[in-house]
Amino acid sequence: MTVNTTTNFGVSVIGSGCSSPAQKITNEQLASRVDTNDEWIKTRTGIRERRIIGPNESLSDLCFKAGVSALEMARWAPETLDMVLVATSTPDDLFGMAPQVQSKLGACNAFAFDLTAACSGFLFAFVTATQFVRSGSIKRALIIGADQLSAWMDWDDRRSCVLFGDGAGAIAIEASPVNQDAVIGFKLKSDGSRGDCLNLPQTRDFDPLVSSYQNQKGGFSNIEMNGQEVYKFAVREVPSLLQDLLLKCEIDPESLDWLLLHQANQRILNAVADRFSIPHTKVLSNLAIYGNTSAATIPIMLDEAVRDGRVKPGHLIATSGFGAGLSWGAALFRWNGPS
Ligand code: UT7
Repeated sequence: MTVNTTTNFGVSVIGSGCSSPAQKITNEQLASRVDTNDEWIKTRTGIRERRIIGPNESLSDLCFKAGVSALEMARWAPETLDMVLVATSTPDDLFGMAPQVQSKLGACNAFAFDLTAACSGFLFAFVTATQFVRSGSIKRALIIGADQLSAWMDWDDRRSCVLFGDGAGAIAIEASPVNQDAVIGFKLKSDGSRGDCLNLPQTRDFDPLVSSYQNQKGGFSNIEMNGQEVYKFAVREVPSLLQDLLLKCEIDPESLDWLLLHQANQRILNAVADRFSIPHTKVLSNLAIYGNTSAATIPIMLDEAVRDGRVKPGHLIATSGFGAGLSWGAALFRWNGPS
């Protein structure tokens, strides 16, 4: 699936927001728990610290705060929203977290649901929401990317625990005239045959039920990751997908204002930029202070860059998410900002 075909409406990207937990864990603090050190983590990943949800916070709280912030930037009353889409793999409630967020926001006219595509989740949700807007089914959508991977980490596994953090980011989009469409194109990909590089699998414990029958007890184990395989996947597939998308949309990499990639590892960001000869000054990066917040990295990064004035109305952004599934995707869009 790719690039705009016939649509009734275009999409404007109007507002952004984000929220991070209060607890900040530095590399030095992690090194007091597991056999690692600041130098290794900084050199191999670019990460210095991460935020972790503590007892007085929840992921749905972070989603709510990110959502409020995006609605304030857009200058929208919550009741004007038609849809709240939450991309997450770690909801507060397995039946779905989006309705809780919709209700806390006061978005009483919006339908709400969760979407799971791990670290690609925000990108998949962004594309999904744009299709509702384009078809004319809805006018306004709030898309939230949020994850609390800290809850599913083996904190004694130094190969994975140093990478991840918690957070939430949100983007507000609305219908525009079709000739002013800010979302120029997208591509989404999945390959379940390589899914075993990065999993958060169910535990398979069974209880006796009646007679000789058993029932499975709900539960999940910890994140299991083959870091090197995921790294190779990212530096191979992301440039290849971006290349296809740029060609299809007839956009020269030089005309991009920003490269907004899933914040997994600074070495991955640099490798992707180098494949297109994009200067590192055009690569948005904040993983030094948040680590990899999974579905939240892209909207948190966008919000930060919008608020500090780097991303300006009209800027052309190439974005890509990638991760467990395996799943990966890319989109080209312009930031409009509030009208
Ligand atoms: O959203 C997607 C999520 N996943 C990812 O983005 C992961 C992508 N992969 C990566 O970012 C990198 O593969 C890692 C950062 C996970 C690992 O970096 P690497 O350069 O691939 O290191 P490595 O796995 O090849 O390990 C090199 C050495 C090993 O020691 P030996 O066997 O050479 O003695 C590891 O045991 O580094 C050791 N090591 C560590 N040392 C200190 C692995 N983790 C750590 C650690 N601290 N935290």
